[in-house]
Amino acid sequence: MMAKKIKITKDGPYLVSGNVPLSKETAMIGKEGEPETWKKGEKYPEQENYALCRCGMSKNKPYCDGTHAKQGFDGTETCDNEKYLKKAEKISGPGVDLTDAQEFCSSARFCHLSGGTWSNVEASDDPKCKKIAIQTACNCASGRLVVWDNKTNKPIEPKFEQSIGLIEDPQAGASGPIWAKGGILVESADGKQYEIRNRMTLCRCGKSGNKPFCDGMHITAKFNDGDESLKR
Ligand code: FES
Repeated sequence: MMAKKIKITKDGPYLVSGNVPLSKETAMIGKEGEPETWKKGEKYPEQENYALCRCGMSKNKPYCDGTHAKQGFDGTETCDNEKYLKKAEKISGPGVDLTDAQEFCSSARFCHLSGGTWSNVEASDDPKCKKIAIQTACNCASGRLVVWDNKTNKPIEPKFEQSIGLIEDPQAGASGPIWAKGGILVESADGKQYEIRNRMTLCRCGKSGNKPFCDGMHITAKFNDGDESLKR
């Protein structure tokens, strides 16, 4: 079987290869009024190869329909290729540590729950706080936040099948990024490989200032892919 890969094309779509499962992923609000769980939605038909819209303007979302060329989309990749740990700040806690690379934030806001990931890391000698710290960091779609077992010095990561989620954020009234899960290789238009991470969010609204990664601009832009959850 072909390795799963996302190839970025110059000012054009993401070419996905290797039969990568594709489905919707909706951010669900919990009792505290904050995003708390992810809900898998509609599954798209299996395809060995497909092209996902990157400019946000396709009439056939999530797929590319060639509009990027007519509209003169500038998809220049402005994110440098520095490794996650080089970008991340480390916060040490008594039960777990946290690394935080703010640049990757896609504004999914799961880290706001129960006082926030950071304060729960700081209080992680309390098992309840440790659990919240782990849960909220693991729900961070972009992988900005990673919790570490401070005894083994290993990251605590959710287990994912290699797949792509199309994020919907009804609370913000916007569709969100492409969620590449499980360590899919992402290759730039000029052939360089981005660091493989378990959780990555790639811009599909066309507005990020940190391409190819999402920087949360889809919320300001009220990017809407026509999902039912945004019609309420
Ligand atoms: S999808 Fe988040 S900035 Fe484009």
